[in-house]
Amino acid sequence: MEQQVTTKKVFIRTLGCQMNVRDSEVIAGLLGKEGYQRTTIEQEASVIIYNTCSVRQHAENKVWSGLGKFRKAKTDNRKAIIGLVGCMAQNYKEAIFERAPQVDFIVGPSDIHKIPEIVNKFRVDKAQLRDRKLLERKIWETNGSIRPEEIYHSGFREDKNHAYVVISEGCSNFCSYCIVPYVRGRLRNRDYKDIIKEIEEAVDREITNITLLGQNVNAYKSAVNFIELLKLVNDINGLKQFSFITSHPRDTSIDLFKAMASLGKIKKYLHLPVQSGSERILQLMKRGYTRRFYLDLIRAYRKIVKDGILTSDIIVGFPGEKEEDFQDTYNLMKQVEFDSAYIFKYSPRPHTQAENLPDDVPQKEKERRHQLILALQKDISKRRRGNA
Ligand code: SAH
Ligand code: SF4
Ligand code: F3S
Repeated sequence: MEQQVTTKKVFIRTLGCQMNVRDSEVIAGLLGKEGYQRTTIEQEASVIIYNTCSVRQHAENKVWSGLGKFRKAKTDNRKAIIGLVGCMAQNYKEAIFERAPQVDFIVGPSDIHKIPEIVNKFRVDKAQLRDRKLLERKIWETNGSIRPEEIYHSGFREDKNHAYVVISEGCSNFCSYCIVPYVRGRLRNRDYKDIIKEIEEAVDREITNITLLGQNVNAYKSAVNFIELLKLVNDINGLKQFSFITSHPRDTSIDLFKAMASLGKIKKYLHLPVQSGSERILQLMKRGYTRRFYLDLIRAYRKIVKDGILTSDIIVGFPGEKEEDFQDTYNLMKQVEFDSAYIFKYSPRPHTQAENLPDDVPQKEKERRHQLILALQKDISKRRRGNA
């Protein structure tokens, strides 16, 4: 038997959010059960997986250009199998094969449990190398909707001290600029008992710090609501600290702040994306809250969660954003003083409502607004760190 057929090493490149980081770990865990070891050296891998993000054009461009260098991996004596998984897989489906013929399989975020089976199919084909047709075939899975619960319990964890625990998948908010609901599907909540079990499994392995994950984490609702879940997690023996991302302002309440203040293991940290300080733009973004509502929340947070960290996300250059809208964002940031913030330039995304609006803020102007907010935030972050 040729050497490349028996080497079981997988290289996974992850782009995008923490959800993808956790998904890559899940994929590594599932393949681990099939005898695959995760490697950070692409040259020694027999399976190469790109776990992708579609949130902005820039994220996709990185994948299209990055895929080029894997062409060699297919033709050298490894005959590596190349998979493109995650949000871009869902966004482009089979069209990916046209643009990147070196890709062998495509798997959307709700189908990742099928990856071991797909990889095994290719291995069987490779064992019969004489038949070139088998080697050239393509497999894609993008129709799934439910992830089997077992995938979260493979036991494989990348980090020995910290674990991400997905509490909900997808998002039903449909903010007008955002592709996430289209590539990740509508909000699905995991059963709270399964979540607790997964955390206990991590604690058994001496991981004492965890982060609860959801695209809209505080919209969680099963037999218990989000605050009740936080209390249950806080009661887990052996767990030392936990936090949660990402919260949506509309689902954020005084009760959540009270829970943060009173539950001893919760990190005093809130990531609360505001996106814009302009009333008009917030409406066009379909965020579901006003500037005033957001500012009132922050005031309450600072009062109730003493010395709590506060971070945010901002988009500049949304369609129709005028200078005065931009100034509203600038002033909000000056007023709130986030500890840190991610600042993004608006990027039109397929499927979204905003895609139909004219992308009318010129690139140069987006760049100028981006730079101004970056500079402002840099200053604020530095000052706040100094005060801490
Ligand atoms: N669920 C999280 C994260 C969504 S994606 C949330 O709701 O906050 C992370 C960030 O990317 C968003 O907060 C937003 O600021 C940014 N983003 C999303 N779509 C974008 C787009 N089309 N152009 C630019 N930035 C975008
Ligand atoms: Fe996207 Fe809005 Fe959902 Fe966040 S809340 S993932 S920005 S649709
Ligand atoms: Fe990107 Fe998908 Fe996360 S689009 S931000 S990897 S949910």
